[in-house]
Order: sequence, then structure tokens, then C-alpha cells
Amino acid sequence: MTLGEIMNIGVIGLGFVGLSISSVLASKNYNVVGIDIDKQKCSDIRNGVLPLFEPDLENTLRIGLKKKLTISNNFSLIKNCDIIFVTVGTPQKSNGAIELSMIKKATTTIGQIIRKSKKNSIIFIKSTVVPGTTQNVILPILEKESGKKVNRDFGVISNPEFLQESNAIRDTKYPHAIVLGGKQSKYMKKAKMFFSKMHPNVPIVITNFQTAEMIKYANNSFLATKISFINQLSNICQNIPGTNIDDIAKIIGLDPRIGKLFLNAGPGYGGSCLPKDINALINFANKIGVNPILLNAVKNTNREQVSNIVSLMKKILGDITSKRITILGTAFKPNTDDIRDSKSIELIKKLLKNKAKIIIHDPKAIENTKKIFGEKILYTKSIADALNKSQCVIIMTHWKQYDTLNNNSIKHMNKKNIIDCRRVLVKKELDAKYYAIGIGKN
Ligand code: UDX
Repeated sequence: MTLGEIMNIGVIGLGFVGLSISSVLASKNYNVVGIDIDKQKCSDIRNGVLPLFEPDLENTLRIGLKKKLTISNNFSLIKNCDIIFVTVGTPQKSNGAIELSMIKKATTTIGQIIRKSKKNSIIFIKSTVVPGTTQNVILPILEKESGKKVNRDFGVISNPEFLQESNAIRDTKYPHAIVLGGKQSKYMKKAKMFFSKMHPNVPIVITNFQTAEMIKYANNSFLATKISFINQLSNICQNIPGTNIDDIAKIIGLDPRIGKLFLNAGPGYGGSCLPKDINALINFANKIGVNPILLNAVKNTNREQVSNIVSLMKKILGDITSKRITILGTAFKPNTDDIRDSKSIELIKKLLKNKAKIIIHDPKAIENTKKIFGEKILYTKSIADALNKSQCVIIMTHWKQYDTLNNNSIKHMNKKNIIDCRRVLVKKELDAKYYAIGIGKN
């Protein structure tokens, strides 16, 4: 086997990770087959219509489709692939554990296909799975279904993914590190050569399966810890008149031992990964007899953030029944239409329980938000309409559109109360009662 042989690549599961990888690799002239069980989704993608909003993805997909990207729900197309990326979801069960049914199904099918294939394929497991899953669940399925032997007839490598939504294409093209977990073998050598050619100068760490699997959880739980840490501090700062959490974050971030990123205080972390991965790691730790005290605190701190916003609002407005409240931003962060585990959605649910009247604005996530709340809340594409007659506005997501808010924008509010969870307007002189997370009121 030589490096030159890697030309045909399969990607199983076309969520934002699978779509980004397929599009980027195809744009770099590899023959890529992107597979998803959802027929309609495949047909939309073939027509350049994305199931999600992700900056640069549409353009990269278009380039890929013009080159050598095939999108299909026909798994058998992977039989000629030199390497296969598995990027199916591992969603959360109600107890926090991960649901393996999709990855079991995908690897069963892959096994059945490689049974008939003459290729010595390498299967990269990108889906996030708890330590032990590749060794104890995925390998036995692949060997049983293929009738072949791992490391002799095919390779399996745990290859966790660190890309961020809203930066998916940039992160796919320029990852900060590459992790390859598995046995030392000709397949590992070939994988290393493939990635060093794709990403020269990017550190490649070769380790075993369980360490590679754990690295992903370590990464995300550390990020979540940083966020909960700064949120906890911001709650303290809010009660010290004149204190500013951003100045504190900026200064401690200059200490190279701490680092400046992921120290933005806010309503808590959301999205499809951080909350799920913390829960999965807590569940896993408990199962193996370790009490994850710190991770539980990170999770609880995160949960409290939204309750703190509701308490603040009640302090400002008194009873919030029938009060008109504006929410700016429902996406879990800017530049995405993703509302999975969004703190904004959690806040709206709590406010609805208190019988508030909610109107929301979001540049991209209105359609997804409608799928949850239907007619229970109001939606608008205009920030001015969102603020009209409102008794309190809460900035939940830092869309750049909100930077321009000023006294003119709020002039038709019924009561000028602003809760700024992202400190977007902190430097403005506003004719309003202004409360910001992490800023101690004088
Ligand atoms: C995360 C990881 O960053 C990524 O490496 C992994 O592959 C997938 O999970 P993502 O879900 O796209 O990526 O979101 P991220 O940018 O990490 O933000 C997560 C949440 O934390 C958002 O709700 C965001 O608003 C919040 N956040 C982030 C803060 O509140 N403060 C910060 O300083 C950073």
C-alpha cells in the first residue's frame, strides 16, 4: 500500500461534520462519496441545498459537487473506498449516556460491504464515543459482519473531531491537531501519511483507541469548565459594584497558563456537543466508579445561568405574567441556525411557564425555533418590531446585528429594560435600565 492509492474516500453520515469533510476533501480533488440514510436530505444536498446553515459550507459543497463528490443513500458505493470516515451522530439518552444505535447500524453495514470488497480500507471513527466503544463495540461488529480481521484485512482508527460549528470549513481545512487512536500497523502508517500530506505542520498524536476517545471528552469538558468558571466569577462580579468580567477575563487570559479563549461569560454553554459530552462523561465516570465532582459542578453552574436570568428579570419586572419580553437570538451561538441545547430555548421555556408573552428575533434560527414553539411565541425578522412595546429585551446570542442597537432602536419599548447576556451594549450610553451579566451595578 502506498500513499498514492488513497483517492477514494467514503463519509458516512452527513451532519455538519460529515458534510464539511466530504466537501473539503472533494474540493481537494479526492473522489468522495458522502452517504446518508435520509434520501430527501441526499437529494437536497445534490442540488446544493443544505440542511443547515454553516458559513462557507455552501460554497465548498458547490466546488466539491462540480469536482468529484457523489452524495447518495446507497451505502454500497463505499466498497471502492480506500478510507471511510464514520461521522454519524451519537445522541444523548435521557440518563446522559450516548445512544449507539446509529453507529452500530452504520458499522454493521460497513462490515457487510467490506466483506465483498477487495480493498484494504481504513475506517476512521469520528463520531464521539466513550472510551472502550471502538474496541468493545465497533471492532467486534466490523469483524463479524465482514468475516475479516482488523489490522490484517482492514484498519480501524479512532479519529476524534474538534471542529466548531460556524467555523466548520476553516477547522476542517486547518485543524489544530490530529488524533489517531489504534494499533501500530500498516494502516496506522498509511493514515499518518494521509493526514501529514493533508495538513503539513499540524501535530499528529498517535495513541491507542481509548486514549483517543477520551481526548475528545477531555477537550470538550475542559472548554465547558472554562465557561462555567467564568460564569461563576461573573455571578460574583455582578454583586460587586463597578466590577467588569471582561476586563478580568482579558487579564487572566494574558497568562499563558490560562489562555484568553473561552472566557466569555454568558448564559451558559449550549449546542450539540458540550452539554451532551459533559453528560456522557459524567455518566461514564459514575459507571466506572468515579465520582466526577468537578464535572457535576460545571454542569450545575451551567444549568443555573438561565435560572439566574429569570430571577433577575423578576427582580426588574416583578410578576412577569403577560409581560411582553423580547429575546434577541435563539441560535446557541452566532453564525449558525442550530438551536440544539440552546440556552435561549431553555430561557423561553421557563418564561412561558411564567406566562410571559415572548417575541423573538434571530437572523438565521427562526425556522428551527418555530419547530419547537409553534404559535406559542411571536417571531419577527425585524429587530425594531421585536423591540416595539417590549417591557424587557434580553440579548442571548451575540449576532453582529445587535452591535448597532442604540437609543433610537429602543425608543418604542414600553419599558426600557435591557438584560445583556453577552455585554454587546456595555460601552453605550443608553437611556434604559441596563443589566449585563458579569457587570456589577453601581
Ligand atoms: C464545541 C467544541 O468547541 C468543538 O471543539 C467540538 O468539536 C464540538 O463542540 P460547538 O458546539 O460548535 O463546538 O460550540 P462552541 O463554539 O464550543 O460553543 C459552545 C457554547 O459555549 C456556545 O453556547 C457558546 O455561546 C458558549 N461559549 C463559548 C460561551 O458562553 N463562552 C465562551 O467563551 C465560549
